[in-house]
Amino acid sequence: MLVSSRGISLILALAISALVGAFLSLMDDSTAVLIFVASGLAFSASYLLINITLEFLVFREIANIYSLLEKIQKKELSQIPEKSGKSSISPLRRINAVINSYALARQKEIDALQKNAEFRREFIADISHELKTPIFATQGYIHTLLDGAIDDKQVRMKFLKRAAKSLDSLDNLVQDLLTLNQMESGVIKFVFKDFDLKEVIEEVIEELEHKASKRHVHIDFKYEPDKNYLTHADRQKIYRVCQNLIFNAVKYNHDEGEVKISLKAHKNHIQVDIKDDGQGIPPEDLKRIFERFYRVEKSRNKKEGGTGLGLAIVKHILEGHKSKISVSSTVGKGSIFSFSLPLAKEKELDQTTKAEQPA
Ligand SMILES: Nc1ncnc2c1ncn2[C@@H]1O[C@H](COP(=O)(O)OP(=O)(O)O)[C@@H](O)[C@H]1O
Ligand SMILES: [Mg+2]
Repeated sequence: MLVSSRGISLILALAISALVGAFLSLMDDSTAVLIFVASGLAFSASYLLINITLEFLVFREIANIYSLLEKIQKKELSQIPEKSGKSSISPLRRINAVINSYALARQKEIDALQKNAEFRREFIADISHELKTPIFATQGYIHTLLDGAIDDKQVRMKFLKRAAKSLDSLDNLVQDLLTLNQMESGVIKFVFKDFDLKEVIEEVIEELEHKASKRHVHIDFKYEPDKNYLTHADRQKIYRVCQNLIFNAVKYNHDEGEVKISLKAHKNHIQVDIKDDGQGIPPEDLKRIFERFYRVEKSRNKKEGGTGLGLAIVKHILEGHKSKISVSSTVGKGSIFSFSLPLAKEKELDQTTKAEQPA
């Protein structure tokens, strides 16, 4: 590059000095000495100027590219400033910009891969932790039975029941994991149809009433009897959402607490609010409760702890309905979880019912 920049300067300087000489020789009163001196001066001045300009530009850009390559080699990609050299005329500057954007794109890829790897590590650690608890418990009961406790009829029943309970929670965990995984990979398809949201909530309440009454938690359901609560959604999955939210409201409530469920029909949507006056959720945990396995630390040790996947599933299902879950909570006072679904016109139900009937 250096040789060629000198060569270019030499050729251009020679051309300029020849031009100056030719121009002066055309003038009548110019002497040979004058022509020689002027050409010489023109040659040296233009050679110097052209050479300095070329070398300065070429050198500076090469130095830039070189330092960029050095950074790439040392993997200090995060220190590369973002540059846009697309508009530059200088090919060197453009090369510099291309290398620069290439390096930045690779850096982004590396960051994403590192994040994924970290997520996988965390996920495996969480799963192992969650699986360990029921497995260890069952193992403990069964070994104790085998070591002789089996002969005591009372202890035998108690331990077998506890072992069965641990296995049930293991089963729940695996079911929830499967559901979440299948939803994420798109294996589970959403089946949309018109149905009455009020009926779904009534069914959930009926299912959970036994659990609630054991702790004297009262479930109150408010809606306007003459209003229409038809929605267009996946019934089974919305049942799951209501079940998770209402069960949480009972589970994280105090004995003799109250759960208030309300349905509000608006112009185009139905809003569902599930309010409890339980322990509430600290603000720092509130952002994270929808993450898989995330549980507020204190509830982790609770005997009847769930899988920590319920709200992650709720979030996923509602996202599949282009809706979202919102929550507000005050520690010691309680929480309120809300979501909304589209309001379907009553006519539509008539049509679907008719269509579903065999001809
Ligand atoms: N209504 C609620 N009141 C207080 N805390 C709640 C409530 N709902 C959820 N949480 C907190 O959020 C965590 C995550 O909930 P969830 O995903 O349903 O998992 P879990 O299986 O533990 O119920 C719970 O462990 C609990 O700490
Ligand atoms: Mg739950």
